[in-house]
Amino acid sequence: MPYILAIESSCDETSAAILTDGKVKSNIISSQLQHSEYGGVIPELASRLHQQQIIRVVNQALKQAEVDKRQLDAVAFTRGPGLLGALLVGTCFAKAYAFGLGIPLIEVNHMQAHVLANFLNPQPPAFPFICLTVSGGHTQLVLVRDYLDMELLGQTIDDAAGEAFDKAAKIMGLPYPGGPHIDRHARQGRRDFYNFPTPEVGAKQFSFSGLKTSMLYLLRKGLQEDPQYIEKHLDDLCASYQYRIVSILLDKLEQAALEQGVAHLAIAGGVSANSELRSRFQQLCQDRGWTAHIPAFEYCTDNAAMSGIAAHYKYLAGEFTDLSAVPFTRGGL
Ligand code: KG4
Ligand code: ZN
Repeated sequence: MPYILAIESSCDETSAAILTDGKVKSNIISSQLQHSEYGGVIPELASRLHQQQIIRVVNQALKQAEVDKRQLDAVAFTRGPGLLGALLVGTCFAKAYAFGLGIPLIEVNHMQAHVLANFLNPQPPAFPFICLTVSGGHTQLVLVRDYLDMELLGQTIDDAAGEAFDKAAKIMGLPYPGGPHIDRHARQGRRDFYNFPTPEVGAKQFSFSGLKTSMLYLLRKGLQEDPQYIEKHLDDLCASYQYRIVSILLDKLEQAALEQGVAHLAIAGGVSANSELRSRFQQLCQDRGWTAHIPAFEYCTDNAAMSGIAAHYKYLAGEFTDLSAVPFTRGGL
């Protein structure tokens, strides 16, 4: 029954969680709202804010879980992918903590952690399943054979789905991160207001940079004719744009499932918090007779509980990390 402290600091959330025997006892998330005034994450600022927050967040996680640090069996941390300076804060803290307590260190791959967030659900997916992982930095189709046995089937060749949301939101004048704002406006809009193009790429590839450019051209043209174009059509623009992103994501997921003959599907990552993606994903699975798995809302965007569940399976498999480990910024699973 391992007691695990997990730390996540790959981007702009400082998070710590305590899991005992794979059950979440606490999951503290401190979001760095300071980036919103710059319209995106400033890496250096992120590192400094992680440094300011990490001790408080870890202590709060222990307190809320009613666990003393001497009860811990391992300390887990996100090794990558992510922002180098941000990852270094969590990595160094975890190393020092584990060393001080004389307990093992466990590195977690952030993309694997997003996938494994599905195992925090009361009814987790059966193996094998395909997970569509959609976040601010990644868009991946992953074949999951076992907890720690994952194969990358395909990914984006340019922007991630979350980036497509955030960049379009920025050019429409919406705050960062834009995904949740587009989601909210889209609920009142018409999806057939504008027919955004579907990119022509390989079957398991994604591309979102063209979509963002077509939004830019549409706005330029609209604003030439009417300076109030964005305000007047914001809901419709959001609905049409979101509809296209979700359609691209689900079409590729459906094709991959048919090709692999897999009947269990999951979504994960920050964009899996999107209401249209969640509902159309469930509808697709219902129509096809597939099982649909979506992490609870709080485990979609970055959080340490998902790192904790990944670390739990690594602990059981005896996969520990040397104190010399350094972060990595890019890469898949
Ligand atoms: O997984 P995550 O928290 O961080 C990364 O690992 O990148 O994902 C953040 C991304 C951002 O791009 C954000 O706009 C997007 O997830 N996001 C959403 C929604 N909530 C978060 N995108 C669309 N609709 C949402 N409701
Ligand atoms: Zn993430």
